[in-house]
Amino acid sequence: MQSKHSFSEEQKAGVYRAIKQRRDIRAQFTDEPVPEKLLNKLLVAAHHAPSVGFMQPWNFLIIRDQETKNKVYEGFAKAHADSAEMFTRDKRETYRDFKLEGIRESPVNLLVTCDRKRTGPVVIGRTVQPEMDLFSTVCAVQNLWLAARAEGIGVGWVSIIYEQELRTLFSLPDSVAVIAYLCIGHVTNFPEMPELEKAGWLPRLPLEELIFYEKWGKTLHHKV
Ligand SMILES: Cc1cc2nc3c(=O)[nH]c(=O)nc-3n(C[C@H](O)[C@H](O)[C@H](O)COP(=O)(O)O)c2cc1C
Repeated sequence: MQSKHSFSEEQKAGVYRAIKQRRDIRAQFTDEPVPEKLLNKLLVAAHHAPSVGFMQPWNFLIIRDQETKNKVYEGFAKAHADSAEMFTRDKRETYRDFKLEGIRESPVNLLVTCDRKRTGPVVIGRTVQPEMDLFSTVCAVQNLWLAARAEGIGVGWVSIIYEQELRTLFSLPDSVAVIAYLCIGHVTNFPEMPELEKAGWLPRLPLEELIFYEKWGKTLHHKV
């Protein structure tokens, strides 16, 4: 039965559409500027994420300067070259062929950070799991990503960069952790499926194999 608190069918469809059609964007950015007002809407969405003890540990560092983007790209290129060496020979060339960032082409880059000391040493919900502030900030990233999809704006997450490069470039204080470096902009199109899936790198896993009942490993079909 439908909950009396549910959204209308149309509103629900919008939420699920944003979730299913959100993509990590790297190659499809256009140079159409992202207006301040629109970017702000995305940041408001991020800022409404859940956070442990309502800590709201995030900051959003907006980068539009091309020179800064070029420097970040240099950092990416270094980490990307190092990363290629970690793959086995048969995968290395395929890995090298993937476009894994849109740092210079996207009009806005966004560094999302987590201030680990935001509300002092003792935080509700973070007493025995101190990493919960990091998880909270990831929730903010996801909110932004989904809101961006609804607005027709693409977001790409770049993690192939040494954290220290970003710390130095943006003068981050010691108490602040890097969570995400995002590329944001209008796109020519949203690919229908994850690019790694399309390229045959990995498939989407069957959900039923990931759901367990009562004990680890006990799926609907497999009794442990
Ligand atoms: C924490 C995190 C880090 C990621 N880092 C990168 C990255 O460095 N480069 C990249 O091209 N994609 C990166 N991605 C995007 C994933 O590859 C992508 O989400 C996944 O392949 C599924 O595709 P989809 O987001 O289009 O559904 C990252 C995603 C997450 C959640």
